[in-house]
This record gives sequence, structure tokens and C-alpha cells, in this order.
Amino acid sequence: MLNVSRLQVRYGGITAVRDLSIRVDEGETVLLVGANGAGKSSLINAVIGLVPASGGSISLKGADIHGLSCERRARHGIGYSPEGRHVFPLMSVRDNVLCGGFRLSGAQQRASYDWLASLFPMLAERAAQPAGQLSGGQQQIVAIARAMSSRPALLLLDEPFLGLAPVWIEQISRAVRQFQAQGATILMTEQMAVPALKLATRAYVMRGGIVTREGSPAEIREAALSNEYL
Ligand SMILES: Nc1ncnc2c1ncn2[C@@H]1O[C@H](COP(=O)(O)OP(=O)(O)OP(=O)(O)O)[C@@H](O)[C@H]1O
Ligand SMILES: [Mg+2]
Repeated sequence: MLNVSRLQVRYGGITAVRDLSIRVDEGETVLLVGANGAGKSSLINAVIGLVPASGGSISLKGADIHGLSCERRARHGIGYSPEGRHVFPLMSVRDNVLCGGFRLSGAQQRASYDWLASLFPMLAERAAQPAGQLSGGQQQIVAIARAMSSRPALLLLDEPFLGLAPVWIEQISRAVRQFQAQGATILMTEQMAVPALKLATRAYVMRGGIVTREGSPAEIREAALSNEYL
């Protein structure tokens, strides 16, 4: 589904991602774990097109998406939930979620909202409320639902558990599992590696802009037990 090959991301003199290659196959949930500043968000943002790649290639379903705008990449089937949520605070919960499905018809948007409300009951209860009034966990759900509302071929989740209480981590995990049961393909980053590894089918460890290890969730959990990225 996604092939990232020898990717470089630079900010001025800082190289955040160097010569990095990863892949996400259809139906997989791939986790990127790594400490602060490892380059996880830079990689995700290069995939959706928010930061330019200064080298390497990115392809989705075999098509090179490297030069495309964010919007074109979304139209190609990528959904993106950013680190730090970034919901539109004055817009209602419903409108926040629906704007992620901008390429759908009105009927498809309604069906999509009903589907998302079955995964996240909060969306039905709070549909008319401005998203800025919600708790952090609820805003994270809105951001994830917005990313899922177009039923993307590839869902990018950047730190979906950041700063959340266990009750929200559990609720989001349950919804991700239901999406996985419908065949979802997901690339996620997380410092909270323990709950994220429970969702992953494969994981990469990143440090200093490179991949230092790849393996099954069990292998990564075991290898990382004594390390700072758990
Ligand atoms: N906009 C930017 N301008 C300059 N440097 C940046 C920028 N964004 C990230 N960096 C630097 O790039 C490196 C990788 O950062 P990145 O945010 O990708 O890491 P991360 O693994 O997502 O970290 P975190 O776990 O804190 O989210 C860090 O050294 C960071 O300081
Ligand atoms: Mg990050």
C-alpha cells in the first residue's frame, strides 16, 4: 500500500529523517515507536505532504505521490490525524468530522457519520457542540474520526494516545480494532508504545531519523523493555 524509500526530511540545517525506508502492506497496522525527536512526525508529515522530502520516494498503491499536494494525496486515499489533534474549535463536532469526507457525496457523508458514531458513541451525543469545548480525549476522537470519515485506503495516526487518560486510550483502541476488522491499513506513531503495540501487526523503532529495528509487536516489546522508548 505505502512504500517509503530512502526518504530524507530536512529543516534548514537539521536532518530529521535520513535515508529511511519503510513499507505498509494492505491490511497491516504498522507502528513507529521512538523517543522525542526521533523523526516520527517528520516521516508522517512527509507522507501526507505537509513537509517536503528532500530526497527519496513515496508511493501509494504503486503510484508515486512524492510531488503531489496534501489535498491530492487525500484524494488518493490518505487520511491524517495530526499530533496534537488540531480540531477546528468553533466548528461543531459533526462539521469537524464531515470536513474530512470532503470528497464524498452528501448521502455518503451521512452514512459515514452514522458508521463513525457506531464506533465512537460520543460523536452522536455531542454532534452539535463546538469541538473546542470538548475534553482532550474527545477532541482526539474527533480528529481520528475526521481522518477516517473518507474511509481512507491508508490512515495515518500521529500520537493518537498523547496525554490521554486510560479510558480514552481504551475507547480509541476499541474503535481502531473495529476499523481493522473491516480491512483498514494504518500507519501510526506513538511514544505510549505499550497500548499501541497491542494494535500493531508490525513495528519499527526510530532513533535520530533512522530505523534501528523492525519486528513483530512481541519482538519490539521484548527488545524495548529496558529502553527509553517504552
Ligand atoms: N518545523 C521544524 N523546524 C525545525 N526543526 C524541526 C521542525 N520539526 C521537527 N524538527 C526537528 O526534527 C527532529 C525530528 O522531529 P519530529 O517532530 O519529527 O520527531 P518526533 O519523533 O515526532 O518527536 P515527538 O515524539 O516529540 O513527537 C527533531 O530534532 C526536531 O527538533
Ligand atoms: Mg511527533
